[in-house]
Amino acid sequence: MNKDDLIFNSKHIWHPYDSIKNPLPCYPIISAKGIYLTLNNGKKLIDGMSSWWATIHGYNHPRLNQALKNQINRVSHIMFGGIIHPPAISLCKKLISMTHKKLQYVFLADSGSVAIEIAMKMALQYWAKEDSEKKNFLTIKSGYHGDTFSAMSISDPKNSIHRLYRKYLPLHLFAESPKSKFGEKWKKGDIDSFENLIKKNFKKIAAVILEPIVQGAGGMKFYHSKYLKKVKLLCKNYKIPLILDEIATGFGRTGKLFAYEHSKIFPDILCLGKAITGGTLTLSAVLTTKKISEKISNNYPGYLMHGPTFMANPLACAVASENLSILKENIWKKQVSKIYRILSKYLFPIRNHYMVHDIRILGAIAVVECKKEINIKKIQYFFVKNGVWIRPFKKLIYIMPAYIIDKKSLKKIIELIIQSLNYKKFFI
Ligand SMILES: Cc1ncc(COP(=O)(O)O)c(C=O)c1O
Repeated sequence: MNKDDLIFNSKHIWHPYDSIKNPLPCYPIISAKGIYLTLNNGKKLIDGMSSWWATIHGYNHPRLNQALKNQINRVSHIMFGGIIHPPAISLCKKLISMTHKKLQYVFLADSGSVAIEIAMKMALQYWAKEDSEKKNFLTIKSGYHGDTFSAMSISDPKNSIHRLYRKYLPLHLFAESPKSKFGEKWKKGDIDSFENLIKKNFKKIAAVILEPIVQGAGGMKFYHSKYLKKVKLLCKNYKIPLILDEIATGFGRTGKLFAYEHSKIFPDILCLGKAITGGTLTLSAVLTTKKISEKISNNYPGYLMHGPTFMANPLACAVASENLSILKENIWKKQVSKIYRILSKYLFPIRNHYMVHDIRILGAIAVVECKKEINIKKIQYFFVKNGVWIRPFKKLIYIMPAYIIDKKSLKKIIELIIQSLNYKKFFI
């Protein structure tokens, strides 16, 4: 990429949540390997973001690359209507064996947001015949489920950029988000808002949907495992399906293979994405139970009304299957607990720093919530200049490195975060 390419980029190419007229700086990356991103000028950055939760085993992984190469020589893409291929079989077998035994039916889709759309359709079609009044979804505030319209409609209605579309979105039910933090004391009455809403509205609720334990882009909050347990019980009592969005938390990130395991429960519908392919290609999966699948099939029109062109793309399935094979070798557990120990040792001591509001650490995720809004442009320049890739938002500096990160590199990320807190110019 030369200077002209970068000018072309700034003039013609949209980036996530960015302006065409006044975009944030874009850093040119020409390759990546392991935990390193290589800039155009040869400088290497230690990646703290795993490309938004996805690249759990690091970039350019030889086994993932080989799986892609093997598959590309067979077939890169083939329609899934009326056709099955070995990578899809292999992937779905692994997904079924890794998740709760009740989850036996898999729908493969393109992205996390699309998985949410499908899960919501499953719930609506589940009720279609016997109770078509059930059109609402119950969730909790501060959630984030993606950028497509239905996903936006269940993401935090006020506290997110989705409020831009509030006039176009269907109205759903939002309970207060949990106040009891993960690993801390349970606050009595924390479930009351959720319980009241389900009690009052169960006749019109098609499903409950939430992110288990970790609320991601809605604020990076970690809530009490008891909250999820109580949600599950209420869903059971009111016979309402529970959809869990594990698109960010799935595949070991929170220290358990799936975050619902912290509460010893299971969902009726489970959404997976992001890390499913180890961050190589876009793919998502929605798993559900026999009860839900059979009822959808018994209701009109007798099938689930969804069929993406690139459903079960063979390349994505092949690389996802190999990614799950790596996970099944169980090294991730040791890697994630090592990351947790390092994060805790070096980040918790800065709890009382004048710029820090809160420090939250769970599995291989760390969040430094600052007291002030962050100047992303300035702080990111500082991180990049010093050899680290982190992309904060609002008041949050957060990291979720690849599980393979070594102690020295992780310490470097942490040290730079701590240093950055001392510069007033990085805060607004
Ligand atoms: C919890 C959660 N759900 C859904 C999504 C949407 O996934 P995608 O960006 O792949 O559409 C995200 C993305 O950040 C997420 O964190």
